[in-house]
Amino acid sequence: MSPAGPRLTPGATGAGIAARQAAHGWTEMPLAYAVTSPGRARARLGAELTSNTVPRDLVDDALLVVSELVANAVRHGRPLWAPPPGRILLRWELGPGPRGPILVEVVDGGGVPPVPADADLGAVRGRGLVIVGGLARVWGYDVALRETRVWALLGR
Ligand SMILES: Nc1ncnc2c1ncn2[C@@H]1O[C@H](COP(=O)(O)OP(=O)(O)O)[C@@H](O)[C@H]1O
Ligand SMILES: [Mg+2]
Repeated sequence: MSPAGPRLTPGATGAGIAARQAAHGWTEMPLAYAVTSPGRARARLGAELTSNTVPRDLVDDALLVVSELVANAVRHGRPLWAPPPGRILLRWELGPGPRGPILVEVVDGGGVPPVPADADLGAVRGRGLVIVGGLARVWGYDVALRETRVWALLGR
């Protein structure tokens, strides 16, 4: 379970999360493995970004990216085996400036890599990761035996 993506601060699961959040300002939101979760994620992240005076265009981009990543975890991934079991995890971290950077990541228990599809012009599916790639400065994933973590860096 070695995270390979860019981190504003080191990540962790299990014990120590609250302490790290307090020390480094990243937030973790456990979500149900359910279709309601993209909406719940948007609501909470939107409120936090807005209250941190992040500009509207960047808030919109971050919410769209998180929505796609959470929807993918629910549709294509699996619930986590590791704590919190049966759920998926959304994490985000805000950089110091008004335009971030903002790091968002979603962890599920599938252990399967996300593969951007070659979406046909008329296809309804297969656009989520294309959107993520278009909005993020950089995005990526890492996969362990029972974990898929997809991350995106937005903003400054
Ligand atoms: N968390 C995930 N776990 C496993 N596979 C994923 C995950 N996220 C994305 N994928 C794979 O990447 C593909 C492309 O995702 P996306 O561009 O969002 O299209 P869509 O969700 O409409 O299929 C998905 O069809 C799926 O095969
Ligand atoms: Mg998708």
